[in-house]
Amino acid sequence: MTAKQTWSQRFESALHPAIARFNASISFDIELIEYDITGSQAHAKMLAHTGIISPSEGEQLITGLEQVRQEYRQGNFKPGIDAEDVHFAVEKRLTEIVGDVGKKLHTARSRNDQVGTDTRLYLRDQIHQIRQNLREFQTVLLDIAEQHVETLIPGYTHLQRAQPVSLAHHLLAYFQMAQRDWERLADVYRRVNISPLGCGALAGTTFPIDRHYTADLLTFDSVYANSLDGVSDRDFAVEFLCAASLIMVHLSRLSEEVILWSSEEFRFVTLKDSCATGSSIMPQKKNPDVPELVRGKTGRVFGHLQAMLVIMKGLPLAYNKDLQEDKEGIFDSVNTVKACLEAMSILLQEGLEFRTQRLQAAVAEDFSNATDVADYLAARGVPFREAYNLVGKVVKTSIAAGKLLKDLQLEEWQQIHPAFAEDIYQAISPRQVVAARNSYGGTGFTQVKQALITARTQISGES
Ligand code: ARG
Repeated sequence: MTAKQTWSQRFESALHPAIARFNASISFDIELIEYDITGSQAHAKMLAHTGIISPSEGEQLITGLEQVRQEYRQGNFKPGIDAEDVHFAVEKRLTEIVGDVGKKLHTARSRNDQVGTDTRLYLRDQIHQIRQNLREFQTVLLDIAEQHVETLIPGYTHLQRAQPVSLAHHLLAYFQMAQRDWERLADVYRRVNISPLGCGALAGTTFPIDRHYTADLLTFDSVYANSLDGVSDRDFAVEFLCAASLIMVHLSRLSEEVILWSSEEFRFVTLKDSCATGSSIMPQKKNPDVPELVRGKTGRVFGHLQAMLVIMKGLPLAYNKDLQEDKEGIFDSVNTVKACLEAMSILLQEGLEFRTQRLQAAVAEDFSNATDVADYLAARGVPFREAYNLVGKVVKTSIAAGKLLKDLQLEEWQQIHPAFAEDIYQAISPRQVVAARNSYGGTGFTQVKQALITARTQISGES
């Protein structure tokens, strides 16, 4: 029933089949196979380079490992549960291919430094890909923002109409979040890109290995300075999951807005058929499933971050099998973040249409220009708090009279304060309200146009 384990010589009896299944990670760490092979090829090269094995043995190992890679890619090598994990699976297949020399591969190495190496190589690639996805997402945001500098949308605080803003400005807020995500991943990368290879099981090795040599071959920036730390550190995983969680926070916030905007209550966007779904019972429904799924999937990435922190808490040095639990959360987070970024990019690019007429009407029918009346007086020498109180009263009486500020006659304005003149109407028009917020980083059109140029430059740089 149970296959012989690599370490079975030391044991009297075979592993219980259920325990073998419980212990095995091959069902998920197969994801690491190509990185495992690459790491092993570097290790083999180093063993030959340092004279620990002969040059020809090194060559046989490297070529044999390449064959394992090809067999895997062609679907001819499918390790089963008996392999326990991807590291044993590759070593076993290698030995079948190259014979006894395959048994030399694991000299001066442990699965503990090996799995740490594989996970880092995997994450390096994934970080590159996610940063690419972020760039695509930013490009889509920017493309839409550029078309909507002059489109106004209500801006909210407390989800109450506050002050109108340029739609481009609103979208650029998400661009900035994605920019931080992009930068944060580069920073995480710096601590992912450190080699634990050669830390051995925990204490280093008796062989004259060259850790810098393997680190260079695998293009790691540096090597762990302490072998115990090297095999048991998962800070890089926590940091990655934290960065992934923040990406999801940002996508989830945008999702929530799209969901609101597409509702009958807001009617700011129309969902196009390519990115919306229907109901099985209500024929009129067109549902925002894409942003809802993104919002929902956020929970699992947060969960993986929490799980990783709990796995690490109280873990004694050095390697403990608990660490095998790091992988599924990392893999799932990577896949989730990539899928969500892609889906949101498509949704923005071709699944949404802003209802510009409706937006135009929305910003004209509220009191979101009240601050501008107060600013108008303050700019004419009335202390701001006094102006604020005056306008507060005007808003109150206008609401009672069923009027908007633009409906007040000039005489009414002048009864409130003699500083009001004909130009008050222009000052409180939605367009002027937005245009006037020309402070750095504000929604004024001049600022937004400048921000768009800066954003274009930011993403056209190296990625
Ligand atoms: N499958 C293991 C993991 O993912 C590999 C390392 C096993 N090391 C050990 N000492 N049992 O962590």
